[in-house]
Amino acid sequence: MKPMERPYYVTTPIYYISGSPHIGHAYTTIVADVLARTARTFRPTFFLTGTDEHGQKVANAAAAAGKTPQEWCDELVPRWKELFAAYHVRYDDFIRTTEPRHVEKVRRVFERLQMSGDVYLGKYEGWYCVNDETFWLESKLVDGRCPTCGREVQWISEDDWFFRLSAYRDRLREHFLAHPQWVQPRSVYNEMMSILNEGLDDLSISRTSFDWGVPIDGGGVIYVWLDALLNYITAIGWSEDDARFKTWWPAQTQLVGKEIARFHTIIWPAILWALGESAPDLVFAHGWITVDGQKMGKSVGNAVDPFALAQRFGADSLRYFLLREAPFGSDFSYSEEKIAQRHNSDLANDLGNLLQRTLSMLQRYRDGIVPDPAGGSDAELARRFAPLPMVVRDRILDLRFREALEGVWELVTALNRAIDERKPWTLHKEGRTGELNAVLYDLCEGLRWIAILLHPFMPERMSEMWQQLGIPGEIDEDWSSSLRAWGGLLPIGQTALAAPLFPRVELPTLA
Ligand code: MSP
Repeated sequence: MKPMERPYYVTTPIYYISGSPHIGHAYTTIVADVLARTARTFRPTFFLTGTDEHGQKVANAAAAAGKTPQEWCDELVPRWKELFAAYHVRYDDFIRTTEPRHVEKVRRVFERLQMSGDVYLGKYEGWYCVNDETFWLESKLVDGRCPTCGREVQWISEDDWFFRLSAYRDRLREHFLAHPQWVQPRSVYNEMMSILNEGLDDLSISRTSFDWGVPIDGGGVIYVWLDALLNYITAIGWSEDDARFKTWWPAQTQLVGKEIARFHTIIWPAILWALGESAPDLVFAHGWITVDGQKMGKSVGNAVDPFALAQRFGADSLRYFLLREAPFGSDFSYSEEKIAQRHNSDLANDLGNLLQRTLSMLQRYRDGIVPDPAGGSDAELARRFAPLPMVVRDRILDLRFREALEGVWELVTALNRAIDERKPWTLHKEGRTGELNAVLYDLCEGLRWIAILLHPFMPERMSEMWQQLGIPGEIDEDWSSSLRAWGGLLPIGQTALAAPLFPRVELPTLA
């Protein structure tokens, strides 16, 4: 187990309110939730998510719907909150960039940058991608289109404020070299390093040709990316509550999709340094959920409704799938068939059947009461799995979710094997009560461990399993006391045989 470290702060990108959310949006937030739930088991934790509401992309979406941008955002934000609730996400704060608590501080940042000489007035002439809210040099366009999303770009020519990003290039390179783990995965680190090696241009940080943003004295609005990045510090008390801010900053883990890595690993640290603050410990750029090799997205028309999906498979099953299917960092292709296969094999068969078999044997042989093992617990099982909680916790905090789950599945497999090998039905028939009690106890104890270790991944299903196992209270979040040694489960608990935890789903018929 990692030593007691300082409080843990994890963030997701804040989401553009340009339409309804899809499963790709739920992805980053679910991952952050798994991290936060795990970190909370041993240290103070703060998990921030929210919405990015300014900028031309949102303004255009609102105009197309015949609404003011503020009306549009106010109507859509509940949809995002419903999405996170539907997927059992427990964030500590949800920040909206239109809130006064954010807007005031963004203005303060701008004034500070003006005073420190980090910004200057100049003329911006070049291309702009509204979808990504990104300025592009002509030389970077691909076939005249945005190199990130492939959409058309528009020519803009305006008097803007510029941030002296170029002045931070050497410091950024030094930071990358001194902290080779600070941007992950390695492929993204290398890509960012090559951007730094090529050289940096100063960054336009205002827009004068439209007005949906944080206003600048003297005209124009602040560039939406500067406004948005600042959410990570405005939400935790930057510049008004120093004690609070210092508790959480620098963040240990900032999760982002790989297409926005440059903003978070080049522009963001430079802005922080200009304000006299530190860069975050880690920016992890994850891969995309793809359909037919393309990033899932609303405008491509391949977006999957996350509400319908949660109805069909269960939100926890989806959470499990998203973290188990591919190593975190890689792209993975989405298909309902894959979700159904994972659900049926890992959850319905391996885990669900284990629980069902255990509870029905308890019902049949022991009136549903967890028996006393009377010192007969399987010492080999206890020895083998003693390190598991530490292994799982470390793997989660290292963002190796798939390996963490594989670790828990070793226990699931070992318990299924224990049923097959120790054959409780034979022990019962032959009246070997002591051995029967021991094996039934071990199964319940193993399931208790599994419920605790999988709780960050499947909070709702594991709480249900906890209840079925007849353990009083909520799932204990303090792993270090509840998983200290095999045998923590009190005998005498009254278990309840209920409907299957993970009912099998039919495989969708392929077209
Ligand atoms: N508003 C900016 C972020 C500002 S952070 C200071 C933004 N918003 S976004 O809504 O377009 O994307 C937010 C996150 O959703 C990104 O991390 C992005 O990678 C993620 N995803 C959107 N579609 C996705 C997939 N198809 N797959 C995985 N993640 C996806 O960028």
